[in-house]
Amino acid sequence: MVREISVIAIDGPAGAGKSTVSREVAKRLGFMYLDTGAMYRALALAVKKAGIDPQNDKSLASLCKSLNIRFDAAQASPRIFLNGEDVSEHIRTPEIDMLASKISAIAVVRQEMTRLQRAVAEKAGRAVAEGRDMGTVVFPDAKCKFFLTATLEERARRRYEERRQRGEKVDPAQVARELKKRDEQDEKRALAPLKPAEDAVIIDTTQLTIDEVVDKICGMAKPRFAQTQK
Ligand code: DC
Repeated sequence: MVREISVIAIDGPAGAGKSTVSREVAKRLGFMYLDTGAMYRALALAVKKAGIDPQNDKSLASLCKSLNIRFDAAQASPRIFLNGEDVSEHIRTPEIDMLASKISAIAVVRQEMTRLQRAVAEKAGRAVAEGRDMGTVVFPDAKCKFFLTATLEERARRRYEERRQRGEKVDPAQVARELKKRDEQDEKRALAPLKPAEDAVIIDTTQLTIDEVVDKICGMAKPRFAQTQK
């Protein structure tokens, strides 16, 4: 028998506020936080470490199958482990940004990641799933679907701030260019492109604070899960 799972799907482009918002919504509602972008990033890191040609479907498929990805949300900032190693910081570089986006267009990668993501959510029972295709492909039956957006200028400003606070030397114009390129790559790919599900609620976060977005999402999601919450 297939176990019924409760999923809140949150999709949108980079810098729209998905991660912070999803983490907070998960915390407030007692759901697991499933960061699917981090999974594509971990795979990209594995591809880089193994020196695999991203065009080689066979090597990619066997790498995907041997991958051991684990989340630990118990700490203040959620951690992701790749084959036992904490790679949470290693996956947040401009090189991995682009490589994750590139390999995420490949069919064998999407198949394996989709399977893994469903398995993780099923095990948790209740999850806030964040990514690009949560509402459209991975969890089309999710009870609540949201699509976060913001202007390119605002998203670039947030990414720039994030990286500056991590102590990186960054050029704002370069950050905006990279973000735009990645959006285009993610939107134009043939498989599971970045787009809102037909039944998703679209939230423009340009002028909103994190708390305002979280309140909005929790306010809409809570009544829908009232019967399933124990
Ligand atoms: O959300 P993020 O920036 O960490 O995601 C990194 C890349 O992974 C993104 O550019 C595209 C890909 N991705 C995807 O194709 N599908 C998802 N559900 C999540 C991420």
